[in-house]
Amino acid sequence: MTDIIVLPGDGIGPEITAEAIQCLEILSDQRDLGLKFTEHDFGGVAIDRHGNPFPEATLDACRKSDAVLLGAVGGDQWDDAPVRPEDGLLKLRKELELFANLRPARVYRGLEQASPLRADISKGADVLVVRELTGGIYFGEREMAAERASDLCAYSTSEIERVAHVAFRAARMRRRKVTSVDKANVLATSKLWRQTVNRVAEQYPGIALDHMYVDACAMTLVTNPRRFDVILTENLFGDILSDELSVISGSIGLLGSASVGDGGPGVFEPVHGSAPQIAGLDIANPAGAIASAALMLEELDHPECAAILTAALERTLAEGLRTADLGGTASCSEFGARVRENLRAELVRCDAHFELIAMNRGCCG
Ligand code: NAD
Ligand code: IPM
Ligand code: MN
Repeated sequence: MTDIIVLPGDGIGPEITAEAIQCLEILSDQRDLGLKFTEHDFGGVAIDRHGNPFPEATLDACRKSDAVLLGAVGGDQWDDAPVRPEDGLLKLRKELELFANLRPARVYRGLEQASPLRADISKGADVLVVRELTGGIYFGEREMAAERASDLCAYSTSEIERVAHVAFRAARMRRRKVTSVDKANVLATSKLWRQTVNRVAEQYPGIALDHMYVDACAMTLVTNPRRFDVILTENLFGDILSDELSVISGSIGLLGSASVGDGGPGVFEPVHGSAPQIAGLDIANPAGAIASAALMLEELDHPECAAILTAALERTLAEGLRTADLGGTASCSEFGARVRENLRAELVRCDAHFELIAMNRGCCG
């Protein structure tokens, strides 16, 4: 049995997560994956029920699980709560030591026109952001008085090294290029970042490394996104750049992510937030949640199932089905249902393919 903890969270979280789980259930049935889903309270909904966005029972279940599938958290009603839903999310990342957040973005076939960039610029863009997730300004000492506030940004070499290794290893499976993004012309943490990444790079002679300042990177992402393969960067820069990158692919609703550490359970969640304005209307795009489910399958060592789910998602988009964020009229549930139709067809195609291979082996050998 593979134990998946589901944290639907707030806003559109529950709607999009439900679509992703239904896809996973089909795969689990058809391929005997033995996935078992257990839902827990997390985020704003957990504040309402338990006075805490990340109750002990949820933390305990996540720790003991094989993987965590998360929707999104947050909403205006909790903005002034003493502990916000977002604090629960940061605690989840810290407690599970998920120091690397992988956010792949690419322009899907048929969606070139959905990008705000000219198709000749966006076409073929395929970038993986590897964002450091448990350090930097997000986790430094914070002070707030009536007329002065401060957020400390600190990094140690070991924090930089471990996430750099994740980026270099990922680049090996891609186009073998890492762009490390920092602000080393100003910040001490960035100077250390650059020195450390240079040192780690010596262990990866087959990977090309270059460095870019974050302001120049923000610009180059919209002028020449194809120039990038893997972007390695610190926590805050990664948060901002990955939202920018998401719209190059057409919508933030398309992007999934994987947060991983040193072998414990990972957290798989879309890059977007809880989109409170459209919550409960069944119009959100569930593609980012489904893409996150595919990343989870990969991490759980089911690469064939991950590829089949990704193919079903790609086919659905290539067929022209679009939710409102991409200018279409499909509802969240309609989009999810079509992905599942394509998923079933994809499974049949794969079975037929393997049968053919087995038959050929039988007659030839
Ligand atoms: P957001 O990502 O929720 O929304 C930004 C814009 O994108 C909105 O116009 C929204 O309608 C749209 N959008 C987002 N996801 C979509 C989807 N799947 N389909 C269609 N449209 C989609 O960001 P925000 O508005 O800045 O934040 C809203 C709340 O979410 C805040 O409380 C914020 O802190 C929280 N948040 C949570 C996460 C997370 O849980 N990982 C991430 C980002 C923001
Ligand atoms: C994200 C979100 C979170 C972050 C917030 C909700 C704390 O924006 O996952 O990208 O800043 O990391
Ligand atoms: Mn973000």
